[in-house]
Amino acid sequence: MKFFLDTADLNEIEEAASWGALAGVTTNPSLYARIGGKLADFPGHIKRICEIVDGPVSAESVSTQRDDIVRDGRELSALAPNVVVKVPTTIEGLAATRTLADEGIRVNMTLCFSVPQALLAARAGARYISPFIGRYDDISEDGLDRVGDIVTAIGNYDFTDATANHEKVEIIAASVRSANHVTQCALMGADIATVPFGVLQKMVQHPLTDRGLERFMQDWEKVQNA
Ligand code: E4P
Repeated sequence: MKFFLDTADLNEIEEAASWGALAGVTTNPSLYARIGGKLADFPGHIKRICEIVDGPVSAESVSTQRDDIVRDGRELSALAPNVVVKVPTTIEGLAATRTLADEGIRVNMTLCFSVPQALLAARAGARYISPFIGRYDDISEDGLDRVGDIVTAIGNYDFTDATANHEKVEIIAASVRSANHVTQCALMGADIATVPFGVLQKMVQHPLTDRGLERFMQDWEKVQNA
């Protein structure tokens, strides 16, 4: 399983990248708004993320009609070679995905909530599909079950994207709210989990690690004073 950071915060991205386990970043309009991002700064901000991260960086189209999504996608992909264009899982999004992928632009189909949506995203040529967990939990449904179904259904076929590279279609478990979400997604075989910085921090923590380290330090102190 690979880990992407789900944020637009440069400090969080720099810190997470320094840990050596970061494979990419996903952003969305809400995450950019959360850091107080301004429209004019957006292209430069995405470029900066792409410099920090050695891996795919998802930048989202903010349009709803296919021609506009395609225009956004071309502009975003021109910012850096590792930009992946995020496109909503709608009819217009599917059409735009096919056009972009045929042009060699990698697409991450987002706001995916069902197996039929995921299958259509794969058939339209997307490189990544992002099913959301937490937003199901928010409406008292089991997001992990839904993502599990999508992982199983997509895994039944050898989908590749529609770019000339024919790269394997990968599932990005998104809207992740806890380290347990990550555990369950790994057990079900999701290719990638995109996680907020707070979840990434929790993933590395364990009380027995802290207690064990404390004991090793105390015992080494004894060795030094022996
Ligand atoms: C990432 O691709 C998604 O946009 C993000 O994970 C959504 O998370 P949220 O449901 O916590 O806003």
